[in-house]
Amino acid sequence: MTEQTQRTGFTPRVFSGIQPSGGLTLGNYLGAIKRFVDMQDRGLNGQPVETVYCMVDLHAITAKLHDPETLRRNTRELCAGFIAAGVDPEKSVLINQSQVPEHAQLAWIFNCVARMGWMQRMTQWKDKAGKNSENASLGLFAYPALMAADILIYHATHVPVGEDQKQHIELTRDIAAKFNHDYGVDFFPITEPVIEGAATRVMSLRDGTKKMSKSDPSDASRINMTDDADAIAKKIRKAKTDPEPLPETLDGLKDRPDARNLVNIFAGLSDISAEDAIAQVAGQQFGQFKPMLADLAVAKLAPISEEMARLMQDTAEIDAILNRGASRAREITAPVLKRTYDIVGMVG
Ligand code: AMP
Ligand code: TRP
Repeated sequence: MTEQTQRTGFTPRVFSGIQPSGGLTLGNYLGAIKRFVDMQDRGLNGQPVETVYCMVDLHAITAKLHDPETLRRNTRELCAGFIAAGVDPEKSVLINQSQVPEHAQLAWIFNCVARMGWMQRMTQWKDKAGKNSENASLGLFAYPALMAADILIYHATHVPVGEDQKQHIELTRDIAAKFNHDYGVDFFPITEPVIEGAATRVMSLRDGTKKMSKSDPSDASRINMTDDADAIAKKIRKAKTDPEPLPETLDGLKDRPDARNLVNIFAGLSDISAEDAIAQVAGQQFGQFKPMLADLAVAKLAPISEEMARLMQDTAEIDAILNRGASRAREITAPVLKRTYDIVGMVG
């Protein structure tokens, strides 16, 4: 816990979210879901902590025109992915964003706290809107204010995310601080991003300088959580590398992004640090390392994809889990929204 969260006395609570935009990758698993499960089971700095995990369906409609049936399927499939990977709906609050209306209600308040200039500086906005920002949705621009509301409606103190979300968490802190300052309260915590582990940025298997992403046109660039054992093994065998054997230390991987990425993936899947990983594989040729990595990836991922497929056969059970999650969540969010409205001056 940081001084700031300690000083203001907020009870530690973890929140994180993933967009149901179709197709979970190994990047989502190592950078996010696996760490969600670790926090649920091992707590935060050795202390048990309440964990809330969310499918952010309202965020998933900001970018491009979507097919409603596909969004519904993706949301349920993401829920199945969370559960198959070890998120336990009894231990964690597991929700779909639109089923907890206080997220969107607090987001409106934050739209009136955040400044246009802050939003314009967001690199994700610049990347996604591209040159044609006149034609981007207002929702895409306001995306980070909704994300701040997701976090702060729970008074969450810690948010496990991949490296790419760091700037959005900084904006969340700015919004909390400005709200507290403008209204002279100490109501919202200053949230900490938790970006740790060997695999906070899993890179493309075809280009170690680019993030592994579900939107990459090349399927060979990523491992999908729904890939079967053969596909996983084949993609790792074909992953880009260089002719040198693996070095003795991490320093030796400095200018070798493709090799570094595979070592990080090995570390993430084995639950060890990158230092320990390189110590284990030092001196190996890729002809030896890759089959071992492929076996490990299949051993860890195949049971998850099988369980996802099984859960998807009973979507009524998934919907029931999400309904239960939403009512548990609202016990937290309704009072926080009420108090926020009160602070802002809404009658009621
Ligand atoms: P998204 O799929 O963009 O909603 O991302 C969901 C979560 O997965 C976020 O915490 C991201 O930071 C994380 N994530 C996505 N891609 C990667 C990647 N290639 N490496 C590490 N984390 C990732
Ligand atoms: N923007 C995040 C992403 O694309 C998803 C997200 C939405 C999120 N709300 C959040 C992540 C709140 C953490 C906390 O990955």
